[in-house]
Amino acid sequence: MFNISLKNSEFAIIKKLVFNEIGITLNDSKKDMVQTRLFKRLNYYQIKDFSHYLKIVQLSKFEKSQFLNQISTNETYFFRETAHFEFLEQLAKNSKSLRVWSAAASFGAEAYSISMVLDSNLFNWEVVGTDINTHVLDIARLGLYQVALLEKIPKKYQEKYCLVGRNQYEGKMLVDRKLQFQTNFLENNLMSKNNELGKFDVIFLRNVLIYFTEETKIKVIKNILHNLKKGGYLIVGMTDYFHHEEFNALEYVKDSIYKKV
Ligand SMILES: C[S@@+](CC[C@H](N)C(=O)[O-])C[C@H]1O[C@@H](n2cnc3c(N)ncnc32)[C@H](O)[C@@H]1O
Repeated sequence: MFNISLKNSEFAIIKKLVFNEIGITLNDSKKDMVQTRLFKRLNYYQIKDFSHYLKIVQLSKFEKSQFLNQISTNETYFFRETAHFEFLEQLAKNSKSLRVWSAAASFGAEAYSISMVLDSNLFNWEVVGTDINTHVLDIARLGLYQVALLEKIPKKYQEKYCLVGRNQYEGKMLVDRKLQFQTNFLENNLMSKNNELGKFDVIFLRNVLIYFTEETKIKVIKNILHNLKKGGYLIVGMTDYFHHEEFNALEYVKDSIYKKV
């Protein structure tokens, strides 16, 4: 089974499919990684070549989703880029209610970090976390993480919102039920319009723009801005560069935070 290699022609089809579906550009250095990750799916179907597998992907909605799950990069952690959470805390202290979207939420660490800040400072709040990857969303909904991830969570939130497991849950940490109740995770593709999600006061779109071409970044941000209230904030990752001059509606605040004017 492990002698099967991904042909250049097959990799070209994969690159086109991934770009069309989720806007991610795979460069040639990713070929080995893609081959290794997709082996699992070939094993699952007990098939011996990638061309056969790609036919299944084209025919089955389920397999297309599994395929995209293997491709996406999901690195994340709690309270990543602390300046953004300090900004959110100040905003929450000065607001009556906030609705926040963690777009490209991955395993949910970002969405729950937002929830901890909001719940500590506000009565009325809601967080929506979305991603294209159904596997990471399942984990986010469970809210059960390796206890080592606690390290990045400020002590005041650890004590209030993180339940450290014992016995069969040794080594695990469970996010407080109340936070889970007010944090909803939904499947969503940033390449499409997101009308069904409604309007938000703050949108976190962090550490995902780096995977897109300039053209795709503009498309994604245009889609997202429809969901941002006037006066609301768009927060991108500290290393996510985009041409914000393209968007008249966006005014730079600080630390990769933009206001919709
Ligand atoms: C590196 S993680 C960033 C997670 C989190 N925002 C953070 O900063 O820690 C990028 C996430 O973007 C998701 N993603 C990539 N393309 C997407 C698309 N077109 N629509 C929705 N999510 C996408 C991936 O599945 C992945 O979970």
